[in-house]
Amino acid sequence: MKTRQFLYPGFRTFAHGGDYNPDQWMDRYPEVIDRDLELMDLSGCNTFSVGIFAWARYEPREGEYHFDWMRDLLDRLHAAGKHAVLATPSGSKPAWMSETYPEIRRVDERDRRDHHHGRHNHCYTSPVYREKVSQMNRRLAEEFGDHPAVVLWHLSNEYGGECYCDLCLAAFREWLQDRYKTLDNLNHAWWAHFWSHTLTDWDQIDPRDESVDGMRLDWMRFVSHQTVDFMKAETRALREGGATQPVTTNMMGTFPTLDYWRFVEDVDVIADDAYPLWKYNQDDLVTAAGAAFSHDMHRAMKGGRPWMLMESCTDTVQWCEVPKLKRPGVYRTEMIQALAHGADSLMYFQWRKGRGSQEKFHGAVVDHEGSTNTRTFQQVREIGSLLGNLEQITGWGNKPEVAVVMDWDARWAMEFSDGVSRMEKEATYMSPVFEFHRMFWKLGVSTDVIESTCDLSDYRLVVAPQLYLLKPGVADALMSFVKKGGTLLLTCFSGVVNESNLCFMGGFPGDGLREFCGVWAEEMDFLYEGEHQTIEMSAENALGLSGTFRTQRKLEVLHAEGADVLATVTSDFYAGYPIFTCKEQGEGKVFYLGAHMQETFLDALGPALIRTAGVKQVIETVLPEGVSAQKRTNGKQDFVFLQNFTTTTVTVSLDDRDYCCMETGDPVSSKVELAEWESRILIRNA
Ligand code: GLA
Ligand code: ZN
Repeated sequence: MKTRQFLYPGFRTFAHGGDYNPDQWMDRYPEVIDRDLELMDLSGCNTFSVGIFAWARYEPREGEYHFDWMRDLLDRLHAAGKHAVLATPSGSKPAWMSETYPEIRRVDERDRRDHHHGRHNHCYTSPVYREKVSQMNRRLAEEFGDHPAVVLWHLSNEYGGECYCDLCLAAFREWLQDRYKTLDNLNHAWWAHFWSHTLTDWDQIDPRDESVDGMRLDWMRFVSHQTVDFMKAETRALREGGATQPVTTNMMGTFPTLDYWRFVEDVDVIADDAYPLWKYNQDDLVTAAGAAFSHDMHRAMKGGRPWMLMESCTDTVQWCEVPKLKRPGVYRTEMIQALAHGADSLMYFQWRKGRGSQEKFHGAVVDHEGSTNTRTFQQVREIGSLLGNLEQITGWGNKPEVAVVMDWDARWAMEFSDGVSRMEKEATYMSPVFEFHRMFWKLGVSTDVIESTCDLSDYRLVVAPQLYLLKPGVADALMSFVKKGGTLLLTCFSGVVNESNLCFMGGFPGDGLREFCGVWAEEMDFLYEGEHQTIEMSAENALGLSGTFRTQRKLEVLHAEGADVLATVTSDFYAGYPIFTCKEQGEGKVFYLGAHMQETFLDALGPALIRTAGVKQVIETVLPEGVSAQKRTNGKQDFVFLQNFTTTTVTVSLDDRDYCCMETGDPVSSKVELAEWESRILIRNA
């Protein structure tokens, strides 16, 4: 990133704050709101998301609008020097609307219409709901579009879910007509002559037929499309009402059923909600790397530009199995991790615990007790002062040299395909993707998480684990990336199907990759939990690796067709078959790893791979286990984040550059000690 890009116009600092719902208190406890304003001042928070589920307050009866309470709140926030992220309330429809317009309630897979309950359960196609939401959003924009407190619009809340009502099915059919033009094309794409599923009329289409996996895939694409379409209609109404502020919506990490890349163009700011659940054992490293994965994706979505952490939890969430408190220092570490990966906001769910209903025990800045005298409040205040010392970081992101590809289409297609291990279910695609990202995270190598159609030209090294589905043009883009000098690693189960989940003919990996990689994956085998095969590195292989390693879960019967063999299987009937290969193409190299390997192999592979690709670690050192090193940069100075995610004290040996402590400005010795869960932010010349 060459230029500084702040979250929203005129805002040059971090957004710090959270979801605030005074609408729960205003009738009977107005003094609580007065107290909140005082506490906000003491908390070091400056930004509040308001109105997220406030529809019943704005419009308690159809056509009867009440906006004064929100105006009053925004005025008070503004007078206190606070900013508001104003939500559209579509995430929860009022009871009167569910009653008057049953069509806005979702229909499930078994044709049952929802009763009125919960939230996040409107039909995203219903013209009635869309009209109601548009009316509301227009009114909100007219009322508050020029309010000085409002810096950003928060579109709905955590969009998600599916609806099988007649309106949604009709919209799906229309979307398909647009995509395929003829039923003949559709029947081919879905391989519908199988089991006599041939369609002779568009009305026969029903996405609930699991045997037609190409259709399931299209349904998921449609759900993302329709959700984004709904979101766009929300923004349109805000604009019609005169609102000019940027818009965002809060994503949910790597949520399985929405392809978040489809949202990117239609939001100005990327925002995410992150709730890592710590256990205070070894699993925490997986959790920490998982949070890093999601952060790396959200930063990459707008080319390295800072993103918003819209929700996080200060202590415990009420929805997990064991609502464990966060140990001292843990929350701070979690927050600094978001900063390390490019967040310019730290926001909490929620500002204050409600007295009743489902989230009364969900962590909050302000407890039922109501004072500043709580561990959580004090931590939040400390984070506020920390942010005050870090302002020179805001607006600066990071542009890594490495990318790991995570593609929702490949994920869905693989999960829906029978014959891919049923045992692993959702993990089948995601496990190796997370593991390869974690390989870089452990090394302290900045990594983007991208989708397969992203521009690769700025990367030196791309790993596309299990790129099972190849969208049109992706194989060509990968090949040209390599020819121009890039290093590419593909793994087993790559290039198996085209965008319709139809297998490539002529050997895997398909679409030209067989010839390009110089390998043919003849068969794929799956292993039971705990079962493994062994592989052995070839003498003097290009990566300089030696020894034997174990596979897990799956491996291929692979043939080298012109590629150099770096490792061979040594067990069972596949003994002697190649499993890891390399081929030079143009200026670059393509590696093919035909097995899902245990993590010890990735620990050995990572350093060798970055050396080959000429990729630098953030700090040229061997990091102790459980320590991460990330950076942001303004081109002249690097802001280096060192974090210990373990419960022991560790020492990090820095490289031979000069580092200062960012908070104090003091020089730092070459050995940095980090206590349990401690983070240090250092500064050095870029
Ligand atoms: C989600 C929602 C919030 C709240 C939190 C609780 O992220 O967006 O409204 O329910 O979960 O963790
Ligand atoms: Zn519907």
